Amino acid sequence: MILILDFGSQYTQLIARRVREAHVYCEIHPYNLPLDRIRALAPKGIILSGGPASLYERDAPNIERAVLELGCPVLGICYGMYVIAQHLGARSAGTAHREYGPAILTVDRPDELFEGLTGSDHLVWMSHGDRVENLPSDLCAIAHSANSPYAAFRSVDGRLRGIQFHPEVVHTPQGATILGNFVHRICKEPGDWTMANFIETKVAEIHRATAGEGRVVMGLSGGVDSSVAAALIHKAIGDRLHCVFVDTALLRAGERQRMEKVFAGQLGIPLTVVDASELFLQRLAGVTDPEHKRRVIGHTFVEVFERQAAALGGARFLGQGTLYPDVIESVSFKGPSATIKSHHNVGGLPETMRLELIEPLRELFKDEVRELGRQLGLPPEIVDREPFPGPGLAIRIIGEVTRERLDLLRRADQIVIEETQAAGLNNRLWQSFAVLLPIKSVGVMGDGRTYESVLAIRAVESSDGMTADWARLDPAVLARMSSRITNEIKGINRVVYDITSKPPGTIEWE
Ligand code: XMP
Repeated sequence: MILILDFGSQYTQLIARRVREAHVYCEIHPYNLPLDRIRALAPKGIILSGGPASLYERDAPNIERAVLELGCPVLGICYGMYVIAQHLGARSAGTAHREYGPAILTVDRPDELFEGLTGSDHLVWMSHGDRVENLPSDLCAIAHSANSPYAAFRSVDGRLRGIQFHPEVVHTPQGATILGNFVHRICKEPGDWTMANFIETKVAEIHRATAGEGRVVMGLSGGVDSSVAAALIHKAIGDRLHCVFVDTALLRAGERQRMEKVFAGQLGIPLTVVDASELFLQRLAGVTDPEHKRRVIGHTFVEVFERQAAALGGARFLGQGTLYPDVIESVSFKGPSATIKSHHNVGGLPETMRLELIEPLRELFKDEVRELGRQLGLPPEIVDREPFPGPGLAIRIIGEVTRERLDLLRRADQIVIEETQAAGLNNRLWQSFAVLLPIKSVGVMGDGRTYESVLAIRAVESSDGMTADWARLDPAVLARMSSRITNEIKGINRVVYDITSKPPGTIEWE
């Protein structure tokens, strides 16, 4: 594996993505991971990420010198480069020549890192204020840019390298080749980490963990993660897996039927559907505060699931679709959203259940999970779905959640889904959905006055949900949504489009 030590760059996850695209397994850990844990991971190479700090600040984040002396190759990117340079006695300085944006890299000395690049001058992406000013005799320059005389260096023994630019971003067109060179040529990783052998390894692991006999119970949400995790566990242990799907009344149109068709039908996975819609609606009656709603839904879900798991009897394990972004203990990953809303996931079941966890997707990113799902034979209607929040439509109904308002929203939401699909927008959009507002407006239909609800449409583009921009949808698509919603749904007479990015807004309204 390749170890990525994170100094807090917004791009750290992208480094991991690029390394995995080169079919090499890697993990992100904070820069101050203790030395004995680093040794235990036995990395074939280490990448030091960039970061927002300057080495001249007090308490600037740093690694122990011993990390550079483990024997494996180390690549420092931007801030990571200064860290290496400083440990070897180079001088860096804040510079008047800040570089932000595109730059031309000229390779001055052949190096394995730059093998196979096309052309002689290479477009790279810079984002730095400091730069390395002089090199000690242990380091030699291998490339420069207009503003950085030492835009890349390596140590004389060939183990340490530093680069000033960011190879992980798309604005460095040959960056993937550079990172590929580091992991394949320099660290000698064979690049044999594929989905097929991931499945094989996991199946064996789940088998071992359940000792060939323990039973696994698992909650399905209808989302991609729990579905793929269930399919994988089922491949490993067959009918010793039992899935539970709770109808919370807060689901999208046709969700329950879809899950029954795919899981019980096509995949033949034992599935119990619990209709808890009445209970959820009772508990939500009169609740309007967003956090209160989330808590009520979370607690009710746990209660229903626990009761059902007990009724099934004898399960020793709980399957969950936890993904890598949920477990990375990096400096940079946890964005502010974690504290802004209390997330409720099917995954977040309580420890009191005393079940051992099986989380086969813990090492994967979202799109790797989709790829895995495809390889396991899950249909596109499950694998290509957009993210849907655990609390469901309840957090898209501003004000009180009632059966009538849920019906209104569900029908409008279905129209938004149909029209984004018809316009071929699914690949471009992170999410698109409807939000029912607690206000009425006056309208005219035929010759009569109407006084009905207002509905908002939200469509956003995002790469990870942490930040997002509102989608500049074709007005013709918006027009079709608006006219279908106001014509087909009695109870809604006005449609507005949400033009707020995140930040300052969040994706969901509550
Ligand atoms: P926000 O609204 O915080 O949402 O910008 C970011 C992403 O998270 C989804 N979301 C949730 N997902 N449980 C989930 O599993 C939740 O409680 C929850 N709340 C928001 C949201 O749909 C978006 O993709």
